[in-house]
Amino acid sequence: MLKYLFFLSFFYDLCIASEPISPIPQTVEYDKAKALLGKKLFFDTALSRDNTVCCNSCHVLREGGADENQVSVGVEGRKGNIQSPTVYNARYNFKQFWNGRARNLKEQASGPMNNPHEQDMNPQLIEKRLNASKIYRNLFKKIYHTTRISYNEVINAIVEFEKILITPNAKFDRYLRGEVKLSQQEEKGYALFKQYGCITCHNGINIGGNSFQKMGTFFPYKTKADYPDRAKVTGLKRYKNVFKVPTLRNIALTSPYFHDGSAKTLLQAVQRMSHFNLGVEIPKKDAKDIVAFLKTLTGVKPKILDK
Ligand code: HEC
Ligand code: HEC
Repeated sequence: MLKYLFFLSFFYDLCIASEPISPIPQTVEYDKAKALLGKKLFFDTALSRDNTVCCNSCHVLREGGADENQVSVGVEGRKGNIQSPTVYNARYNFKQFWNGRARNLKEQASGPMNNPHEQDMNPQLIEKRLNASKIYRNLFKKIYHTTRISYNEVINAIVEFEKILITPNAKFDRYLRGEVKLSQQEEKGYALFKQYGCITCHNGINIGGNSFQKMGTFFPYKTKADYPDRAKVTGLKRYKNVFKVPTLRNIALTSPYFHDGSAKTLLQAVQRMSHFNLGVEIPKKDAKDIVAFLKTLTGVKPKILDK
């Protein structure tokens, strides 16, 4: 019997492994008390200089974890220089930020708080503000056993919260696990996604998030502004317009699209991708089928948000 089960699981692994996209795990390890504290910080405008902006202002969790503005607006209405990506499933990205300048969530988390266009704070000011609050002092004392809140613990709690910001059980993941069927159009869309070659850049658990690629591999992509691309990190010209391939998970909820927020609808995004990155003008019908497939990538939000 055991042998039989082993064989079954072997074939199951083989089937799943043969798909270029893998489902998001249904549970992950995390520290609940720290994550709840991180959640409180994520929604707290006290982490911005003029008390107007929090992480959730630009990463709206009740929607897709991104921002409906073309570029995000930080403290004192200061405009940022790039579209806000989603924080959902960010833990599965191989690097953080569009140009991958942060190696992980811990490195990333300091970014917005210290960015003059975003929250415009610094570690000392954050510590001062939080230590002035009796509620936070008590919470940190209970969880981190310290009498004085330090910046490192603030980052630690936020990262713990981000770890649980995963969206498993999308229709597509359930299809991969053999639990549901896709509609005919969705299935066709997935086949086209593979046939046209979208899958070469958008694959793995995040259907993206695991490589740097050029926006405009076939036709040069012109933008009006100077964006923080991979060239800014490497200092090399050939990395102009190279970005981390964004995740396509929950993509139906994160319009507008692209680093410059230039595509308002998914259909536009798919058509532009085919043109710039595959060098083909695909028929509208095919683009619509691909959109139907992309809509199956919307997952279930974590329960921690209900509390
Ligand atoms: C004013 C808007 C704004 C605020 C506030 C903000 N972010 Fe962001 N966030 C952005 C933008 C824009 C980017 C992309 C910047 C880039 O790639 O150069 C980003 C990137 C990220 C990423 C990387 C995602 C990826 O795919 O690379 C994570 C994670 C993230 N933010 C989490 C947070 C957290 C946590 C906070 C609060 C401490 C926060 N953000 C506050 C706008 C904001
Ligand atoms: C050569 C690699 C490559 C190929 C092939 C490719 N993409 Fe992309 N995709 C990218 C990169 C890089 C970006 C980010 C571009 C930018 O923001 O300027 C992106 C962005 C997107 C976005 C917007 C995501 C967001 O959050 O803004 C969608 C949707 C998308 N691709 C779908 C597709 C589809 C559908 C196909 C096939 C028709 C495809 N891609 C083919 C690399 C690729």
